Amino acid sequence: MAYYSGDLIEEVISQNDIVEVISEYVVLKKSGRNYMGLCPFHREKTPSFCVSMDKQIFKCFGCSEGGNVISFIMKIENIDFWDAVEMLAERANIDTSRFEVKDYYNKSNSKNNDLKDAVFNINKEVAKFYHNNLIELLKEKTNPVKDYIIKRKLDIKTINKFGIGYATGKIPLYDYLIKLNYTKEEILASGIIVENSNGKMYDRFYSRIIFPIFDIRDRVIAFGGRAFSQKVLDKTIPKYVNSPENDIYHKGKTLYLMNFAKREKIDNIIIVEGYMDAIALQKFGFTNAVASLGTALTENQARLIKKYTDKVIIGYDQDGAGQAATMRGLDILVNHGLNVKVLKLDHDDVKDPDEYLNKYGAERLKKCIENAISLVEFKVSILEKDLDLENFDSKVKFLTGVSNILSKIDNNIERDMYIDKISKKYGMSPGPILKEVERGISKKSNNDIIIDMQSLNKKMQLVTNVRKRQEQYIVALLLSKKPSIQQEIVKNIKSSDIDNEDVKKIFDFILSLMDNYDINKIDILSKIQDEDMVKEITDIMYIDISGYEEKLLQDVLKNKRKEKLYARRDEILKRLDQNISKDESEIIKYELNQIVIELAKLK
Ligand code: UTP
Ligand code: MN
Repeated sequence: MAYYSGDLIEEVISQNDIVEVISEYVVLKKSGRNYMGLCPFHREKTPSFCVSMDKQIFKCFGCSEGGNVISFIMKIENIDFWDAVEMLAERANIDTSRFEVKDYYNKSNSKNNDLKDAVFNINKEVAKFYHNNLIELLKEKTNPVKDYIIKRKLDIKTINKFGIGYATGKIPLYDYLIKLNYTKEEILASGIIVENSNGKMYDRFYSRIIFPIFDIRDRVIAFGGRAFSQKVLDKTIPKYVNSPENDIYHKGKTLYLMNFAKREKIDNIIIVEGYMDAIALQKFGFTNAVASLGTALTENQARLIKKYTDKVIIGYDQDGAGQAATMRGLDILVNHGLNVKVLKLDHDDVKDPDEYLNKYGAERLKKCIENAISLVEFKVSILEKDLDLENFDSKVKFLTGVSNILSKIDNNIERDMYIDKISKKYGMSPGPILKEVERGISKKSNNDIIIDMQSLNKKMQLVTNVRKRQEQYIVALLLSKKPSIQQEIVKNIKSSDIDNEDVKKIFDFILSLMDNYDINKIDILSKIQDEDMVKEITDIMYIDISGYEEKLLQDVLKNKRKEKLYARRDEILKRLDQNISKDESEIIKYELNQIVIELAKLK
């Protein structure tokens, strides 16, 4: 990556209106001087996500996320600061080369970016290396690797498209990378090489078919390696070995082949478990297939999907293993507003979509996809699987289970539809189900009341925390862009005057910025890396003090004086309790008197 001067940040911020940018992700409605919408960072039913056109910042009053247009892009796209800057520059057609510099813009940050860039490059080199290995082996007449590739029906087009490779583990990759001028630190950071306690370097992938894992920008971020020898069947070695997580690879933020899926205009996304499933689906023309790589789905993955579609079809293994974890993952998808359906294969002799496709073909799978059942039906079918509905106890269990599932549906019509459908399917009368569901709903609304009490308590806390508010005003005045006011604050208020640690941190930070910059001209938010500090400062930025600056300044100064007087008063009272000379007592009593008078005036 190139290095840019800080001016690019200002340019990007001024050329990308935050309301326009956020509107590409969130439906915003104008409300006074602000725009409101449903927060994309947490689940909510009533909008507490607020975008300020004047201030060019956003803030969620529900989850307290906040920031400027760059922080928004970082969060929603799951990318680094400079990647977000580049993306926004591209959006606004800014010629970034004008801002390129030789020196690092921010040394500490760039060092980390250097390492990341190196790991990206190493991954690219290694992916090429593995891929070439495989291509060479496929040229031979026969060998175990080639046999396996043929057995798995991986044709050359697919191998090339997805960069599939082979790791012998025999040509030391470490030496290879050192020759390409990468440092030991960089090589180890990639996770491809492992150092043992004797300092010897080992390849992580040994005798494995390699699947490079890409991010949505087509960069190789990790690898998965499948063993194919007898040892897998003997279970003496793991079937798959994967790269460890590092700065560029986060399992929970990645969906395998999403970079390919997103290239096409897609109506929905099919999520499968394994590398081979996603590859097979793509090969057979289901270009909307991605893989979660055997782990439960996360919020980050849900968000990633939501950017491209709001319909998901789950095509997990049919073997029932890990179904609880699967369900949890699916609820996460639903909570992010995705419509989730579950694929049921119409044959039991195959375990996953890959096997199904190779045995029964694409046409048949397409039918299954069309017949995918809703998540509710899926849950009910799982419930039923373990129960014998002829048995009375089981029937009661089933009824309770079903009502649990159904009472979570918010939409009345949808709920009734399911009651109808399920009672028919399982030969039960709808009455008892309806009753149970209603009971479930009333329990749930009790919970809602409790939650409301909690938020009320929170508000109360806000009220009692007047002190923090007063201190926030000090920072708000520093941010007022009114030089005379700002100078008064700098002159009269010290960091030690501020009790609240969060506010103090911001106060100190702004003062330190003032040493080097004219803070009225720079974008302060983009100078802050710490997330909690961003949350605090956006809170403060939302306090509207315009027109009240003078009065607030007077209040702040008055409060400071009051505090000083109170402190001195307490000191004197303490002293008077002690054995002191008459003279001293006279003097401080006089002082106390003065203090009491001044305090009365100040009130
Ligand atoms: P599966 O065992 O279903 O693998 O695990 P698969 O993709 O169908 O593989 P084939 O068809 O046997 O080659 C699903 C996913 O779980 C992860 C992998 O991401 C795999 O694709 N997994 C599985 C591991 O990471 N390690 C393992 O040992 C097994
Ligand atoms: Mn499989």
